[in-house]
Amino acid sequence: MRAVDIIMKKRNGSSLTKEELAYIIQGYVAGDIPEYQISALLMAIFFNGMSFEETAALTELMLQSGDVIHLDGIEGPFVDKHSTGGVGDKLSLILAPMVAACGVRVPMMSGRALGHTGGTLDKLESITGYRTQLDEATFRKIIQSCGFAMTGQTEKIVPADKKLYALRDVTATVESIPLITASILSKKVAEGADALVFDVKSGPGAFMKTIEDAERLANSLVKTGKTMGKKIVGVITDMTEPLGRKVGNFFEVEESIDCLKGTGPQDVMDITYRLGGWMLVLGGKARTVEEGIDQCKTAIKSGKAWDLFIKNIELQGGDSADMMKKYGNYRAPLVKKLKAPKSGFIASIDAYKIGLAGVYIGVGRNKTTDSVHPDVGFIFDKVKGDSVSSGDTIASVFAHSETALDAAWPLIEASLTIADQKPDHAPLIIKEITAL
Ligand code: URA
Repeated sequence: MRAVDIIMKKRNGSSLTKEELAYIIQGYVAGDIPEYQISALLMAIFFNGMSFEETAALTELMLQSGDVIHLDGIEGPFVDKHSTGGVGDKLSLILAPMVAACGVRVPMMSGRALGHTGGTLDKLESITGYRTQLDEATFRKIIQSCGFAMTGQTEKIVPADKKLYALRDVTATVESIPLITASILSKKVAEGADALVFDVKSGPGAFMKTIEDAERLANSLVKTGKTMGKKIVGVITDMTEPLGRKVGNFFEVEESIDCLKGTGPQDVMDITYRLGGWMLVLGGKARTVEEGIDQCKTAIKSGKAWDLFIKNIELQGGDSADMMKKYGNYRAPLVKKLKAPKSGFIASIDAYKIGLAGVYIGVGRNKTTDSVHPDVGFIFDKVKGDSVSSGDTIASVFAHSETALDAAWPLIEASLTIADQKPDHAPLIIKEITAL
């Protein structure tokens, strides 16, 4: 086989065989095929796409490039959730204990904040002592003890994706549905889940800016997963406004505490219950999503989800008493208020602009090596649809330096739109894609 023939075949619009894809992936990881040829192939895939069978084969080969977590010996079912990333998206912290409380085990591997989107690991690390780099034996033990564990991906999980993603990033080939599918799915399957729920976010604050693109990705994840024998549901949710009323690492832990205690904001809970309901269906604990939602609501109401959250924090080395002591007080020293410039209704608070402003104050990061602050962020007193009078506080923004606040402020001001009329209600859950 020759790489040039495989590139030519894809360039001319044909499908590649599993053997051809194996030649490419194995050759690339081994350093035998040069990056200029892989770059050319990536661009050919970008323009000509891939069938679900090709995407499944690529996913499988990427998966085989590294370690796969084995959860055998632990009683399942194992179901995880993956979000394509958003602003104020703290759903994992609530979902994992809630779903575990209903009898479905959640082996969760999460990522860090990057660009305007937040990261679960950074939120968890704002809890003093919480360990997010678990070895496989500890990961297994914690899942066995409390039904879920939350860790970061090791270097050994899908190394092919690390190389390919870095190359896609510099060759303008990130935005390819089959390449995104193989990248996300290979990492999720490697963590040992039997079934997956994908929260594919759509809107200005999301990776997929339009509903059509989000639908294409959700469809590809579901169909490719099915080809690989995995049960997958794709839920397309809106990411135009930040989720909830708090954005920031410890700030989002606080809001997750509220949600687990039954006093969380409606938008966060609506999506959490829907995703949780599907996780219970995929785990065989509920016949319908509505039945799953009812079980999730009971897990919150009974306090069982909260108890598991605390148990998990202790098992992962975190200090839950310190977390509760910091609740409501752990704030960076500088605070600036965003005030309503006129009376009316909040028509929009742009999640993308808030996410970008968050990078300046240290909620998120521009590159993977940047550090973040646990105690910076946004608390919104008002959200979309609320009426405001001129001068009302819309949000409090906490930061460590005037320089950071000054850099973030134009974005924060520009994120706000006030209109004379109350805006129409836009559904948060836009569409669901299943192939069960
Ligand atoms: N997230 C991933 O993990 N991979 C992609 O290709 C895009 C987003």
